[in-house]
Amino acid sequence: MKTTLNRRSFFCVSAMSTLGIQTSKSASSREEHDKTVRIGIIGMGGRGCSLLRILLGLENTQIPAICDINPKRFDYALKLFQDAGHPKPDLYDKNEYDYENVISRDDLDAVIIATPWNWHAKMAVSGMKSGKYVGVEVPAAQSVEECWELIDAFEETGVPCMMLENWSFRRDNLAVLNMIREGLLGETVHSQCSYSHHCITYFFDSEGKPRWQGEFLLQYNRDQYPTHGLGPVLSWLNINCGDRFDSLVSVSTDSFGVEQYYREHFTKDGAVKPPQVQQGDIVSTLIKTKLGKTIYITNDMLLPRPYDNRWMVQGTKGIYSFERNSIYLEGMSLQSHEWEEFAPYQEKYEHRFWKNAPADVEQLGHGGPDYIELAEFVRAVRTQSPTPLDLYDSVTMSSVVALSGQSIAQKSAPVPCPDFTRGKWKTNKPRFGV
Ligand SMILES: NC(=O)c1ccc[n+]([C@@H]2O[C@H](COP(=O)([O-])OP(=O)(O)OC[C@H]3O[C@@H](n4cnc5c(N)ncnc54)[C@H](O)[C@@H]3O)[C@@H](O)[C@H]2O)c1
Repeated sequence: MKTTLNRRSFFCVSAMSTLGIQTSKSASSREEHDKTVRIGIIGMGGRGCSLLRILLGLENTQIPAICDINPKRFDYALKLFQDAGHPKPDLYDKNEYDYENVISRDDLDAVIIATPWNWHAKMAVSGMKSGKYVGVEVPAAQSVEECWELIDAFEETGVPCMMLENWSFRRDNLAVLNMIREGLLGETVHSQCSYSHHCITYFFDSEGKPRWQGEFLLQYNRDQYPTHGLGPVLSWLNINCGDRFDSLVSVSTDSFGVEQYYREHFTKDGAVKPPQVQQGDIVSTLIKTKLGKTIYITNDMLLPRPYDNRWMVQGTKGIYSFERNSIYLEGMSLQSHEWEEFAPYQEKYEHRFWKNAPADVEQLGHGGPDYIELAEFVRAVRTQSPTPLDLYDSVTMSSVVALSGQSIAQKSAPVPCPDFTRGKWKTNKPRFGV
């Protein structure tokens, strides 16, 4: 099935769903559910394979093509096909540009991109230009130019493209979103978030050589991975639908963690020298929005520590804290000035994405959000409707990679944030998870 969605029909679908117009829904929903969606996957490393495993379990979903420059990566992927009882896909591994032969197939509806960061934007642009829905891993772009190339391709073709920001689909974050939309926190004013995950072995291999992720640390000092933190924050603060990022400042520590890691693991006999990394250990970014709100993001991937995203959102009537797994609502919480447990609120304000999830959802990728995001992505492809997370939000989150680098390079000077919506943030209504 070839995607024939053109710009006009996409905006039509979009406008119809905004207006709540549904085309003979009950009659067509069974038919829609039965429609087979065909997806090609580019990049069959760790992430590509975990997305594949979930996709192979979705009803009426086929994966006729997979692509990687390293054919060894197909071994595990092909076992997943076999275990799931799916036919063997066509394999693409000729060279770095063989992905174009996947994208240009006319039997695919969508492509998923799970390659190294420098490939994301060009592959996604190519996908949109050939009429395929695109699901692209995080972050979607490495530079502000790439952000605009993505937006231009979307506006030219009308083909939806979504960054696969799974933390936007977490059960707790979506319950917080429901609470915010019901006004329980009042007007949201400030949020904080982080990617605090000791990823040193992800950056350097067991002999101390930089992997592809590590190459970015040698070249840049910036927040390389802001989107897991920012995903839920964007909708908590109505970014791109009522407000937008105005400017940001970023500050970085120097680098200490990599050298210490090498001292511990490789350099005792002086055999392996620590690499010269540009990247500081902790990057702190403060974003000011047009409406005078603030967002504080931390990138913290190079010092030993347990995993954390440190989400917090504070409004005129209350505050939610992920670290404490607690909430405080002025006038509602039993004890004034005291935190209360978040769990009962999570249950009460469960998001619709999670209400109909399969019983074993929490076993499916990062405790469930990976399943939810892919199920919603595939639903959008099947019904030819907008993706749950749109490209403006995807690009806004990703732009922090480049903008934080610009600010750090200018001794933490404020850097203006582009308006990727070209002014539509003023009139856009919230759409994510509505
Ligand atoms: N959302 C999440 O929770 C999450 C988790 C892990 C990784 N990721 C993202 O997924 C992406 C992949 O990460 P990973 O950990 O799987 O890395 P990986 O190194 O395990 O896999 C990347 C794969 O892409 C292949 N590749 C490189 N260039 C290619 C090209 N031109 N054409 C086809 N294949 C190519 C590599 O051979 C490799 O197999 C990254 O963008 C990463 O940020 C997201």
